[in-house]
Amino acid sequence: MFLKKTIHFFIKKLKTLKNKTKIYYLNQQKGINVSTTTEFGRNVYFTTSSQFWKHFKNGAIITGNFCKFSRNSNLLAYGGTITFGDYSGVGEGVNIYGHGNVTVGKNCLIAMGSCILSSNHSIPNIHSTINSQPDILLPTLIEDDVWIGANSVILGGITIGKGAVIAAGSVVHKDIPPYAIAAGNPVRIIKYRSND
Ligand SMILES: CC(C)(COP(=O)(O)OP(=O)(O)OC[C@H]1O[C@@H](n2cnc3c(N)ncnc32)[C@H](O)[C@@H]1OP(=O)(O)O)[C@@H](O)C(=O)NCCC(=O)NCCS
Repeated sequence: MFLKKTIHFFIKKLKTLKNKTKIYYLNQQKGINVSTTTEFGRNVYFTTSSQFWKHFKNGAIITGNFCKFSRNSNLLAYGGTITFGDYSGVGEGVNIYGHGNVTVGKNCLIAMGSCILSSNHSIPNIHSTINSQPDILLPTLIEDDVWIGANSVILGGITIGKGAVIAAGSVVHKDIPPYAIAAGNPVRIIKYRSND
């Protein structure tokens, strides 16, 4: 009963976020959690159990139009801003952390299980602990038409250039130029998309 009430509360909240927003609920059984600082564009699609949280601190999540957020995806602003361009989407179980701002361009595919960061900790000498170090905020930029393969990790402060492809399971610790196809841990450019 409590669960049902909570679900209805969040669905009501979603509906009132933007009256011009047309939101499709593909499955309402488990609910979608949304912070009040989330702004959805038009025709944004969800599947269940997605979370859009500002998470303790302020922060915002802003999507373009025709975005898609799959089951168990989490957009956690953590005081920063997460922005999505039109027609971009994330697969199941994607986690995006907005501490230092994450910007995703248009027409991007972020495949299931991937994780996008925008902060880091410095590593102090052995006389202090790592968890006492503040977050270093590092804006992450994913330009238009990027495909991030399943289970990839994109570290904070990285730019992935327009049209690039990141192979499944990659750890991206450096910038990737436009139209590169990059793979592995640590990531290496294996080739470029053809011009033909
Ligand atoms: C990156 C990718 C698109 C490359 O496909 P491709 O152009 O057909 O490339 P190839 O299979 O010819 O591989 C080229 C080289 O990259 C290597 N490679 C390909 N995928 C790799 C990966 N995920 N990790 C590490 N190396 C990889 C291959 O071993 C090969 O190396 P070699 O030349 O030394 O033999 C594909 O491998 C991939 O990872 N796709 C993502 C799939 C996915 O996440 N789908 C989720 C649904 S959206």
